[in-house]
Amino acid sequence: MTNDEIQVTTSGRGNSMLSFWTYPVVWMVRGAFFVSCLAMLHWAAGHTTSGKVLMEKGASHSPVDNNHITTSLHEAAVNGHVSVIETLLESGANASLPCRLGLTALHHASWTGHVDVVQVLLGQDGVDVNAKGPVGYTALHHAAWFDHVDVVKALLGHDGVDANAELIGGGTPLNLAAQKGHLDIVTTLLGHDGVDVNAKDSSGKTPLDVAQSGYFTDVERALIAAGAVTSGSDEL
Ligand SMILES: *[C@@H]1O[C@H](CO)[C@@H](O)[C@H](O)[C@H]1NC(C)=O
Repeated sequence: MTNDEIQVTTSGRGNSMLSFWTYPVVWMVRGAFFVSCLAMLHWAAGHTTSGKVLMEKGASHSPVDNNHITTSLHEAAVNGHVSVIETLLESGANASLPCRLGLTALHHASWTGHVDVVQVLLGQDGVDVNAKGPVGYTALHHAAWFDHVDVVKALLGHDGVDANAELIGGGTPLNLAAQKGHLDIVTTLLGHDGVDVNAKDSSGKTPLDVAQSGYFTDVERALIAAGAVTSGSDEL
C-alpha cells in the first residue's frame, strides 16, 4: 500500500478506494505503473555503476553493440550521468531504443528528474519526445507524476510535444499532476497552449475531480481559474 492509499483508508474516504478497486482499467493502469516504478527503483538501486565502466572496458570499439550500449545509456539516464550519455551517443548508441521495461532513456531521465540528461536526449536526431512506455506513459507523464517541474518545462519546450498524451483508457499528464497535488506542475501545464483542462482519466474523472478528492485546494484554485469543471458539471 502506498501512503496515499493508507491515508485514503484511514480518513474514511471510502469512495476513492471503491473506485480504485472497481474499475479494472484504473486498476490495470495504476497497478502497472506502481509495478514498473518499483522495478525501476530496484533497478536503479542495483545499478550504481555507469556506462563509464563499460566504456573503459572497451565497449566503444566498433562495431557498436547497440543492445549492450543502450542498456548503459538507460542506466546513465537513471543516474544522471550526462557526460557518460554524451560519450555513449557519440559512440553510436541509439538514443531511441527502449529498455527491457519498454522505457526509453528519455523516460528514465524524466522520472528521475535529470533535466540536463533530458536536454541532451531531446537534442538527438530522431528522439521521439512522445515515445510511449507501458500503458502509454510518456516522459511528460513520468515527470508530472514525480514532480520534476524543470523536466516538465524542458519537455513542453520541445517541438511536437503532446501535452495531452493519454494513457491507455485515459489520463493526461495534467490528470496525474492533479491527482498527486503537484501545484507547480499543474500551473506549468496550464500555461502551455492547448492543454485540456478537463481531460478525463480512465475512471472518467477530470483534473478538478481528483484534486478535490485529494483536498489539494491550491491545485483546485489553479484549475478553476483555468476553466476546470468536475465530471458532473453541465459545462463539460
Ligand atoms: C533506433 O531505435 C528505434 C526504436 O527501436 C528504431 O525505430 C530506429 O530505427 C533505430 N535507429 C537506428 C539508426 O537504428
